[in-house]
This record gives sequence, C-alpha cells and structure tokens, in this order.
Amino acid sequence: MRLTRALLLFAAAVTAAGQNVEFSHKKHAPLKLACTHCHAGAAKAERATFPEASRCMICHKTVKASSPAIKRLAALPAASRIAPAERVFFIPDFIWFSHGAHAAGKVECRSCHGDVWQKDKLTAEAVFSMKFCVDCHKERGATLACNGCHELLQ
Ligand code: HEC
Ligand code: HEC
Ligand code: HEC
Ligand code: HEC
Ligand code: HEC
Repeated sequence: MRLTRALLLFAAAVTAAGQNVEFSHKKHAPLKLACTHCHAGAAKAERATFPEASRCMICHKTVKASSPAIKRLAALPAASRIAPAERVFFIPDFIWFSHGAHAAGKVECRSCHGDVWQKDKLTAEAVFSMKFCVDCHKERGATLACNGCHELLQ
C-alpha cells in the first residue's frame, strides 16, 4: 500500500511538471503522425493516456532545440507526462467508457474530439451528454442497456 501511494504521488508530481509545457496539435499537423504515437492507449485501452517527455524528445533533441519552450521541455524528467493543466474532455466517474471498444468499432477520434490538427489549443467540440452517446449508439447498433454505460446500475 505504501509503495503504491508513493508511486502515485511520484506519478502526480511528474505529471504536474509536464503541465507547464506548451503543446500545439496544429504545429505538429504537417508531420502526419498517428494519434496513437502520443496517445498510446487510444487504440486498445480504456484511457487514451498522455505522452511522456521522452516521446517528445525523440524529435526535439534536435528540432528547435534552442527555442525557450523546448529548453523547458528538455529540462523535465524523461517520464513526465505532458498533460493539460485543465482537462477539456471528461465524463463523470459513474460512466463506463473505453477508447479500445470504440477503436474496435472503427469509431474515429474526430467523431468525439473534432479535428484536433486545426487547433493550437483544444476546445470541447461536443458536450458528452447522455444524448450524445445514445444517439450514435442507436445509429450504429451499439449498446443501449443502462448498465452498458452505467457500471453500477443493475
Ligand atoms: C506529438 C504528440 C501528439 C500527437 C501525435 C497527438 N497528440 Fe493529442 N495531445 C498531446 C499532448 C502533449 C496533449 C496534452 C496537452 C494539450 O492538451 O494540448 C494532448 C491532448 C489531447 C487531448 C485533450 C484531452 C483533454 O481532455 O484536454 C485530446 C482529445 C487529444 N490530444 C486527441 C488527439 C487526437 C485525436 C490526435 C490525432 C488526430 C492526437 N491527439 C495526436 C500530444 C499529441
Ligand atoms: C515526430 C517529431 C516530433 C515529435 C514527436 C514532437 N514534436 Fe514538437 N515539433 C516538431 C516539429 C517538426 C515542429 C515545428 C518546428 C518548426 O516550426 O520549425 C515542432 C514544434 C514544437 C514546438 C514549438 C517550438 C517553437 O519554439 O516554435 C513545441 C513547444 C513542441 N513542438 C513541443 C512538443 C511536445 C511537448 C511534444 C511531445 C508531446 C512534441 N513537440 C513532440 C516535431 C515533433
Ligand atoms: C466515442 C467517443 C470517443 C472517441 C471515438 C475517442 N474518444 Fe478520446 N475521449 C472520450 C471521452 C468520453 C474522454 C474522457 C474520458 C474520461 O473522462 O474518463 C476522452 C478522453 C481522451 C483523452 C484524454 C486522456 C484520457 O485518456 O482520458 C485523450 C488524449 C483522447 N481522448 C484521445 C483520443 C484519441 C487519440 C482517439 C482516437 C484514437 C479518441 N480519443 C477517440 C471520447 C472519445
Ligand atoms: C460516434 C459514435 C459513438 C459515440 C458518440 C459513442 N459511442 Fe460508444 N460505441 C460506439 C460503437 C460503434 C460501439 C461498438 C463497438 C463494437 O461493438 O465493436 C460502442 C461501444 C461502447 C461501449 C462498449 C460496449 C461493450 O459491449 O463493450 C461502451 C461502454 C460505450 N460505447 C460507451 C459510450 C459512452 C459513455 C459514450 C459517450 C461519452 C459513447 N459510447 C459515445 C459508437 C459510439
Ligand atoms: C451510451 C451510453 C449510455 C447509456 C446506454 C445510458 N446512459 Fe445514462 N448517462 C450517460 C452519460 C455519458 C451520462 C452523463 C451525462 C452528463 O455528464 O451530463 C449519463 C447520465 C445519466 C443520468 C444522470 C445522472 C446524474 O446524476 O447526472 C441518469 C439518471 C441516467 N444516465 C440514466 C440512464 C438510464 C436509466 C439508462 C437506460 C435506459 C441510461 N442512462 C443509459 C450515458 C449512457
């Protein structure tokens, strides 16, 4: 238990460090990277996850290495997660959601997140209301069962 807690505190600390780094999807659009290059969980796991600084440094060891923003990035521990200080997209804890299940159903990222490549700073493209989820589930023949999305309802 104490070890787990220590690890969680460590993870939170390195994430907080990464929240001060700027990142623009738009500036990276010409590179035509797969979303999963940075959000590795999006194809198969529940959470899409955020990239570690070491992922960025594959390129930024050389690209724009003398820019002040990249110097701040380079100074971080390699395992820092580059995460937003404030989340744009989120759902309440009582909702069950899996990126992997949607990737398996060939639902594109843009259906829920819009075209992130056009944005310097992401904005909420859709409000994740129950209607938003259910409308597409009706159209696509996916689950409409209450406990399909609400884990605790019986
Ligand atoms: C080169 C790395 C990289 C690539 C490639 C990338 N992202 Fe990101 N993404 C990030 C970083 C870093 C953040 C956190 C900083 C921020 O929010 O701007 C982020 C944040 C996000 C968020 C915001 C989550 C929130 O709630 O604030 C979404 C959604 C997202 N990315 C979707 C995508 C999609 C969809 C693609 C592909 C079309 C993509 N990203 C490609 C690095 C990347
Ligand atoms: C596949 C290579 C690649 C990866 C991975 C990558 N970048 Fe970049 N990044 C670039 C390129 C290319 C540019 C544009 C450089 C230019 O404008 O000449 C850029 C631009 C930037 C800039 C603007 C720098 C400036 O001063 O103009 C920042 C900040 C940045 N990236 C941060 C990040 C972060 C944070 C990550 C990881 C989440 C990341 N990058 C991952 C290639 C990459
Ligand atoms: C069916 C809608 C939907 C699709 C499709 C979808 N997402 Fe998400 N995404 C969400 C929701 C809902 C959240 C908020 C999850 C939460 O709060 O627990 C989220 C959160 C995120 C986050 C924040 C980090 C995290 O893990 O919570 C990132 C990054 C992200 N999505 C990237 C992607 C990428 C990349 C794709 C495509 C490969 C994608 N998403 C496809 C609905 C979707
Ligand atoms: C744009 C269409 C679309 C949207 C929007 C959407 N879904 Fe889905 N969802 C699907 C499809 C298609 C599947 C079925 C994937 C499969 O069966 O392979 C699915 C599957 C699921 C599953 C998995 C069910 C299972 O049997 O494993 C859950 C849970 C789920 N969605 C929850 C949500 C929630 C919560 C939201 C809103 C935040 C949402 N979905 C928004 C299309 C969508
Ligand atoms: C496809 C996914 C999905 C299905 C199926 C679904 N819900 Fe929901 N439901 C959601 C989401 C997402 C929210 C949260 C919306 C928000 O944050 O505004 C929600 C919110 C709710 C709330 C409001 C809870 C609160 O305290 O704000 C109730 C009540 C509810 N759902 C009941 C049901 C019932 C009853 C069923 C079955 C008939 C059902 N839901 C089926 C996704 C779903």
